[in-house]
Amino acid sequence: MSGTIDNERNFVRKATEIYGPEFQDHLRSKGFVSHWFLHYWAAFSEIANSRPFGPKVLDLGCGPGWSSIFLAGRGCEVTALDVSDDMLAIAAENAARLGFAGRITFRQGDMQSPALAIDEGVYDSALVMDALHHCADDVAVLRNTYRALKPGGSIVVVEPDWFHQYSPSSANDRKLFGTTERGLSSRTIRRSLVAAGFGKPERFYCVYATPAGGLVARMKAVIASVATVSVGYPHRPVLMYARKPE
Ligand SMILES: C[S@@+](CC[C@H](N)C(=O)[O-])C[C@H]1O[C@@H](n2cnc3c(N)ncnc32)[C@H](O)[C@@H]1O
Repeated sequence: MSGTIDNERNFVRKATEIYGPEFQDHLRSKGFVSHWFLHYWAAFSEIANSRPFGPKVLDLGCGPGWSSIFLAGRGCEVTALDVSDDMLAIAAENAARLGFAGRITFRQGDMQSPALAIDEGVYDSALVMDALHHCADDVAVLRNTYRALKPGGSIVVVEPDWFHQYSPSSANDRKLFGTTERGLSSRTIRRSLVAAGFGKPERFYCVYATPAGGLVARMKAVIASVATVSVGYPHRPVLMYARKPE
């Protein structure tokens, strides 16, 4: 069946069956070598440097753990949560390999479940990176995050844009693994943050490419930037920052 939590849980096992053990090598390295993820990270750092963020942080849908490792590298005290035991095992292995063993607490849980066992009112900040679009009920995830934050606590959401639901990779993952692959526009994320109780979400932009010199390249970059800011296309992540009221 498509879109079930079991499909999210079983993703690593099934992908390893189909693509071979190399798939897990990809999970062990992607956050550290893919320029896409490094752009995410650079954009996130700019937000966290200019707004209240941390030091006690909850990383929701931590996957292979690279976001948790970057946060720990910034000096944050990180709790990393994921529904998949396989992802958590790889995340713990990545953390140990990079010298962060014992500095990140890993927890298994469904961030969408109203019954999620989570420490309430204790985190300064939360990060949901590239994971909210795997949940049919994004407001439920944000409500759980709200519960976990202290008054005045902050959240950063980093998501692929609305077109993600129509991308070839989403179609492929839906077909092979039955994972939930939504496209969340900045408007949807903003509304969901407000519905969960957060105040005044702010949107940020991240442009992946560094245009080469030359008039044509620069004109393409200007067109891509304008299209990104106006309609969110070509594929650019949506970054939102919001705070729980004091
Ligand atoms: C595309 S990965 C992103 C991982 C990581 N945040 C990153 O940026 O590399 C999405 C992650 O969300 C997790 N996930 C999906 N649904 C979830 C849920 N309901 N609760 C917790 N984690 C979930 C998946 O297991 C997966 O590890």
